[in-house]
Amino acid sequence: MAMVPWIRVVLLVACLCFPVSVECMVRHYKFNVVQKNISRLCSSKPIVTVNGRYPGPTIYAREDDTVLIKVVNHVKYNVSIHWHGIRQLRTGWADGPAYITQCPIQPGQQYVYNFTITGQRGTLWWHAHILWLRATVHGALVILPKLGVPYPFPAPQKELVVILGEWWKLDTEAVINEALRSGLAPNVSDAHTINGHPGPLSTCQPQGGLKLPVRPGKTYMLRIINAALNEELFFKIANHKLTVVEVDAVYTKPFKIDTILIAPGQTTNVLVTTNLGSGKFLVAASPFMDNPTIVVDNKTATATLHYIGTLQSTKTILTAPPPQNATIVATNFTNSLKSLNSIRFPARVPLKVDHSLLFTVGLGLHTCASCTNGNRVVADINNVTFVMPKIALLQAHFFNTSGVFTDDFPGNPLNPYNYTGTQPTNLQTRKGTRLYRLAYDSTVQLVLQGTGMIAPETHPVHLHGFNFFEVGRGLGNFNPKKDPKKFNLVDPVERNTIGVPSNGWTAIRFKADNPGVWFMHCHLEVHTTWGLKMAFVVDNGKGPNESVLPPPSDLPKC
Ligand code: C2O
Repeated sequence: MAMVPWIRVVLLVACLCFPVSVECMVRHYKFNVVQKNISRLCSSKPIVTVNGRYPGPTIYAREDDTVLIKVVNHVKYNVSIHWHGIRQLRTGWADGPAYITQCPIQPGQQYVYNFTITGQRGTLWWHAHILWLRATVHGALVILPKLGVPYPFPAPQKELVVILGEWWKLDTEAVINEALRSGLAPNVSDAHTINGHPGPLSTCQPQGGLKLPVRPGKTYMLRIINAALNEELFFKIANHKLTVVEVDAVYTKPFKIDTILIAPGQTTNVLVTTNLGSGKFLVAASPFMDNPTIVVDNKTATATLHYIGTLQSTKTILTAPPPQNATIVATNFTNSLKSLNSIRFPARVPLKVDHSLLFTVGLGLHTCASCTNGNRVVADINNVTFVMPKIALLQAHFFNTSGVFTDDFPGNPLNPYNYTGTQPTNLQTRKGTRLYRLAYDSTVQLVLQGTGMIAPETHPVHLHGFNFFEVGRGLGNFNPKKDPKKFNLVDPVERNTIGVPSNGWTAIRFKADNPGVWFMHCHLEVHTTWGLKMAFVVDNGKGPNESVLPPPSDLPKC
């Protein structure tokens, strides 16, 4: 929309003075990263927070807005913040993963993340992208549609942000450091949380929990985010159906379901109609894990959907969470997801493929004399365990600094084997800071193939800088002859984080229309730490708006 210059000035002034209260084109936020004691939880210990809040503040913006967030680091750790799912067109400097697109913000330093939200609306989130700080440093990022543009479903009367998380009694940095010392898996969390509350049924918070107050006869939209470090979660509400309308800030064909599945990194918007008049209904978030040999935190976080006016003494209507290994419930949800694919919101699935890639994702081992078993558990993609560089990859790419990374990441496994069959005798992986190079605007089909090495499980793989379409998925090994015939190229779900099924595969497609360096990793934090990560380097295009912008002057130094 063209705008008279003086209106722009008035808006800008209004934006600066009243950042969230007026319809702004520029939104300003200040994030003070500080230690804080959260007394309502079972162990009162200082945790790292943004502005002393857990979860952190919600960022509100509209499609097309520019957002400036000044992050000031007052804690003893290096910090960086990622705006999960924001495309960051040409502005990779604001993406946030430490040592990938920026050096971290050191104690006492600050950095202004500056990006414009283009062509996106819906629920995303932000989180720390260094160490395990995202356990407590995270919050919602709500992008409203452009002014005057309605949702493609009946407008809800009210919207609520629902953030699912995990809570450890111990300091999470101590938890992961101990795991790295022993070479074994880290301790699981002590509680799951809903907006920072484990809930009334938890021993971690005996006095009450979160209440979601609702009025009868209305429709509410829940913006659900899984901010947990390591666990996929089921989410349900007693006696209420959920109508799914969006995932990862992309509209879906609406469908009704009892239970949704949400992996770390993913977001899901659901509509809930309060058609029961009165009462209190349990809201439950519980883990999904279909490999019985892997230990997870089996505790259910609960809250109550509380009809306004219901007597305090009324009993909460309970609901049983699905069993931990309820693959059927998980698959039923996943298979129901389709892009809305309307005239206004078309699914632009790449139909031709320039790069056909197959990446195996799973665990492996490295010999380690000081470790408990003489080996350290690691993770890898195509047998490469990613080694973090000492300076940011995007800087190395932009300034042509050699010796930081190589661009020879294998596009296909170097030694193909039966990935989901009996595991091979050699489980050792290679190390490397290897990237895969893509020409601007080239198209990619990437089959993510889960392996049975050590412990098969679902891997929620997240790609920075892009959305992708999931054109197919299946169990066992991907069959390049048969499986593509069944691909959905019409209305596949579009998202930024996808669960690779345990001992199975998923095929995604995207167009490399965003120059820069883009991280891809498993969003189970333990697997990221163990090396299940790599990056794509997308070269600049030839056109005027097809190059990475120069770095901002306050970009942190290593
Ligand atoms: Cu939500 Cu690279 O992460």
